[in-house]
Amino acid sequence: MEHQEIRPVPKIPAYKIPVHAVGLLKNPLKAIHQMTTQYGDIFALPLYKKSQIVFVNHPDYVKHFLKDSQDAYSRGKAVKQSAITGLDKFLGNGIFMSDGDDWEAQHKLLKGLFSTTAIESTLPIIEEELGKLTQKWQSQIEQNPLVNVEHDLNILMLRIMLRTQICANKTFDDHAIYEALTGRMEASSVKSLFWFQLKSSLLKPFGKNYQYKKHDQYLAKLENIAFGLVEDLIAHKYQPNGLFQLLLADYEQNKITKTNIRDQFMNFVFAAFDTTATAITWTLYNLAANTNVQQKVRQELQQSLELIPHKHLAQLQLPFLQMVMKESLRLYPPVWSYAREAASDDVVNGFQIHAKSIVVISSYSLHRHPKYWQSGNEFDPSNFEKEQFKGKNFAYIPFGQGKRMCIGRALADYQMQIIVGSIINQFELTTNNNVQPSINANIIIKALEPLRLRLNRITDTP
Ligand code: HEM
Repeated sequence: MEHQEIRPVPKIPAYKIPVHAVGLLKNPLKAIHQMTTQYGDIFALPLYKKSQIVFVNHPDYVKHFLKDSQDAYSRGKAVKQSAITGLDKFLGNGIFMSDGDDWEAQHKLLKGLFSTTAIESTLPIIEEELGKLTQKWQSQIEQNPLVNVEHDLNILMLRIMLRTQICANKTFDDHAIYEALTGRMEASSVKSLFWFQLKSSLLKPFGKNYQYKKHDQYLAKLENIAFGLVEDLIAHKYQPNGLFQLLLADYEQNKITKTNIRDQFMNFVFAAFDTTATAITWTLYNLAANTNVQQKVRQELQQSLELIPHKHLAQLQLPFLQMVMKESLRLYPPVWSYAREAASDDVVNGFQIHAKSIVVISSYSLHRHPKYWQSGNEFDPSNFEKEQFKGKNFAYIPFGQGKRMCIGRALADYQMQIIVGSIINQFELTTNNNVQPSINANIIIKALEPLRLRLNRITDTP
């Protein structure tokens, strides 16, 4: 066998580090994208001693870190390394953070929520909540056609998640949950952390130790809500649904504790609604910015509904709409970055990865890699025609890869088709102006200003 020389991962030149460090703190998505253009498919930002952040932007590396060697790369440990964000305290030992046997057990239990039957059972709640929202929009746009779709879709998806996974007929203070969650996420945004670093370094010379506590306040609010729901659950004060039904059964058999229920609630609040809401928001934005594509989606929908009128939108085969949703997830993958900690020394493609290194993949950059995506920044659903997409499995990772891939992806697809389809069937969408929205990337890709679209009611929906 040919002997392969082991090389260190090429390092960012030392004199460039300060400028990249500031860029990463201010806008990590933009900074990583710019660095991948400058330094290629693998490069390292050295930290202390041997440890480093290794950035990769190539399908072969994605395959190595997320699939072939997945057990040697931990997401939970990478999150714990950046404990200052408070994310580790928030997510506890839920499915997102765990590894090994602990993860296996949680995954086995939660998988039950994503069978076809379980997914289809959420339809009445989706329809009820979506119906309320579209009715609200219909009366609202008579006064003002400009709608804050981002906010409204977030609340919609949160309500659907709470009712399908916790209790179908309980009154939740969804606005309070939403505010505590967005406040908590904002408090660990890189921008907040940047200001924290700046303030603490300015105060240090005066002997003051500036503590970063902002996310703790929001976390305390969420904890209150979570433990309130848990106490009422185990006291049988409401009829649980989905996730909470599974967790209550395990709690009553002494398999899990109250804290485990709290942790899983936090993991679902973190992963299960904002992601889908964001995917739907960007899909609607892309359709508003490309009205010819929007018209084609509407035609496909209306033709299918005319052909098989008794079928629900959820059951229709809508290949063009599917391509549109995939293309939106290519350009704006809601979860845009992956981080893993290396458990031990490893070699990938001849490059040395030291134990404890953090590996970072930006799906935002990978999805615009010029070698795989000729359309680059352009919205082009034909990227997902069968022939075009062939061989790009590891160049397209909106839901991840390997066994830690998104457990909720089938549910997300199901919800997206119903919600996008139903909105396009009832409203014509246009953008507020022709300016491409700037991106604000914390953990999820959002527009810098909440996305608003102009809605015009279509009167003759079949
Ligand atoms: C369009 C919507 C969604 C997107 C783009 C998305 C994306 C992702 C991605 C990229 C990961 C893997 C992250 C990594 O490997 O580091 C992930 C994991 C996860 N997602 Fe989603 N997600 C979506 C919807 C959902 C929904 C609806 C649920 C639950 C109802 C959910 C629950 C989870 C959980 C629990 C994990 C962790 C899985 C594990 O570690 O085994 N997601 N998601």
